[in-house]
Amino acid sequence: MARPTILLTGAGGQVGFELAQSLARHGEVIALDHAALDLADADAIVAIVRQVRPNLIVNAAAYTAVDRAESDSAAAFAVNARAPGILAEEAKRLDAVLIHYSTDYVFDGQRTTPYAEDAPTGPLNVYGASKYEGECAIGQAGAHAVVFRTGWVYGARGRNFLLTLLRLAQERDEIRIVADQYGTPNWCRTLSEATAAAVAPGLPWLAERSGLYHLASAGATTWHGFAQAIIGDAPRPRVAGIATSEYPTPARRPAYGVLSSRKFEATFGYRMPDWHDALAACRSEMPAAPAGAG
Ligand SMILES: NC(=O)c1ccc[n+]([C@@H]2O[C@H](COP(=O)([O-])OP(=O)(O)OC[C@H]3O[C@@H](n4cnc5c(N)ncnc54)[C@H](OP(=O)(O)O)[C@@H]3O)[C@@H](O)[C@H]2O)c1
Repeated sequence: MARPTILLTGAGGQVGFELAQSLARHGEVIALDHAALDLADADAIVAIVRQVRPNLIVNAAAYTAVDRAESDSAAAFAVNARAPGILAEEAKRLDAVLIHYSTDYVFDGQRTTPYAEDAPTGPLNVYGASKYEGECAIGQAGAHAVVFRTGWVYGARGRNFLLTLLRLAQERDEIRIVADQYGTPNWCRTLSEATAAAVAPGLPWLAERSGLYHLASAGATTWHGFAQAIIGDAPRPRVAGIATSEYPTPARRPAYGVLSSRKFEATFGYRMPDWHDALAACRSEMPAAPAGAG
């Protein structure tokens, strides 16, 4: 097959930005950010896909403002549920493959062992419900589609826990972080590299492996543990653990969202790194914190 054309949405986001680089090794990437393609505009999606005629669509765009979604559910569902369905229908029309990302927030978090793909879902918030509906819409379209569920995404750019914590570390002597929600931090580069590894053997090979996969670094922690790993052995700030009940948010979050990537690793022959190692690799690319910042 000739070098495939890859249509990438959400190219300005954490994962999308990384995918634009990682996927360029495997095809001609047409990278569209929010300004270039608004996934809330169904007609625009159809028009762009029919114009580009990609062999692979990678949807890294999403309405990711979890708390805002509670009061803006129509927008969240348009982007996270309707748009993936349209992309899947268009992929089917073109006999293209779709790669899409979903979330551990499709689960209710009542488990205490890592979730496999067939575990029952039960989203606790609008964001999770909209992402779950997106998974279903893709399934209904009947296209060759690979859906990667992940969680706790961070990177050196964008809006994420790592950057927020580094900013707070400069401003405060003590940071209070939720210590009773469990998950796994995922560097956006880890996700883009794993995605590229799945694409590397070719699109027919990928198409045969259509389905739902959990995609996360190895290991688990709490937001408090993640914060401690970020601050390291710096003398300040102190990182205090608090209960979820002490940090009320508009959206309820699952207490446990650890995902087992066993199916992905076995299917694609790819080993996900430990989250500590990924964090260290990300930090090694970032400018050092100013002196005295801890
Ligand atoms: N971030 C997480 O912790 C997390 C956790 C679990 C799963 N995921 C999933 O992982 C995937 C990648 O997320 P991410 O972490 O890279 O999120 P992100 O950094 O928030 O990026 C999402 C991108 O989508 C764009 N977007 C929002 N609304 C759009 C619209 N109507 N049309 C087109 N683009 C739009 C955003 O642009 P603007 O900023 O301009 O709006 C942003 O560039 C998503 O499917 C997300 O649901 C993320």
